[in-house]
Amino acid sequence: MKLLERVIKNSQSYQKRIVLPEGTEPRTLRATEIILNENIARIILLGNPVEIMQAAEECGVNIKGAVVIDPKTDERRSRYADLMVEIRKSKGLTKEAALDLLNDPLVFAPMMIKSGDADGEIAGAVNATGDVLRPAFQFVKTLPGVSVVSGAFLMFMNDPHFGHDGILVFADCAVMPDPTERELAEIAVTTAKTAKAIVGMEPRVAMLSFSTKGSAQHERVDKVVNATRIAKEMAPDLKIDGELQLDAALIPEVAKLKAPESEVAGRANILVFPGLEAANIGYKLVQRLAKAEAIGPVLQGMAAPINDLSRGCSVSDIVNMVAITSNQAAASFE
Ligand code: ACO
Repeated sequence: MKLLERVIKNSQSYQKRIVLPEGTEPRTLRATEIILNENIARIILLGNPVEIMQAAEECGVNIKGAVVIDPKTDERRSRYADLMVEIRKSKGLTKEAALDLLNDPLVFAPMMIKSGDADGEIAGAVNATGDVLRPAFQFVKTLPGVSVVSGAFLMFMNDPHFGHDGILVFADCAVMPDPTERELAEIAVTTAKTAKAIVGMEPRVAMLSFSTKGSAQHERVDKVVNATRIAKEMAPDLKIDGELQLDAALIPEVAKLKAPESEVAGRANILVFPGLEAANIGYKLVQRLAKAEAIGPVLQGMAAPINDLSRGCSVSDIVNMVAITSNQAAASFE
């Protein structure tokens, strides 16, 4: 886990302001204590201050160094509401409705980021993915030139022969249920950038399917073939190949038989799945059956780093995601 140590060390030097909207949630509070003690980031907790302090006391944690903000009474509400009306004027959002929306910490947090009052956000220990992402999509939006946000997982395998010293990056495991060809291409290119920025790997992207190089004919195979072609047009220097079956992507002996010409097959370090069903089930299979550590989803393509937790997350998952989010925040400003 040298990579995580490096990510945490970087985070300690960046001192980014990370907002945690689920301010009374016990794992979030325990993670806050660790983050503050280890000086990993500056933490902003959202919620009713009395309730947050009470919850911290019940957990037996000290969160004195955290900034606590109540979205229902904070003085920035009017300014944020004006900005929200401006961003959503084509949708007819009124100031009154915006002020009402701001009572929700999952809306207040992205508005803090949009207004430059925080650098990143993490939520999802109690809220569903859609509820975390929707306000982020609507108010923070995507990076210029990017049309879809997607979610990558860093998979730390027990066998260092796979991927980059045992690290594989899977996408999109979190957001787009059924991406179009173009969206799938964009997911591949964006995931390569994430993998380079966070893991420091030289990307070799496999576009996965149930077919390798024409072994099966089906419209779902065509989709992956076309997405691979579009991704090559988007990023001509990227090492990417498809369509490949999983064994052809990862196992050199199988690659020699099924895709001997490929510079990716047999040594892929990024796996792009054809849809969310395969990706989400796939990462959980590897996590549970192969006992790989899964870190993510690292959301990519958003104009500022906002990350979603699984509701089954642990305290250390939250600490790690805060560090990763800080690294993303630093990367987007450098
Ligand atoms: N990237 C950027 N913007 C997006 C994206 C995207 N991937 N998806 C939707 N949006 C935007 C829309 O354009 C829309 O913007 P607008 O209001 O300005 O027009 C806004 O977000 C809302 O879009 P809807 O389509 O109405 O939102 P919806 O709630 O239907 O879908 C969502 C978005 C929630 C992400 C949906 O795709 C979803 O539920 N995905 C699956 C999430 C999930 O459950 N993942 C598995 C669990 S995660 C895990 O296991 C780790």
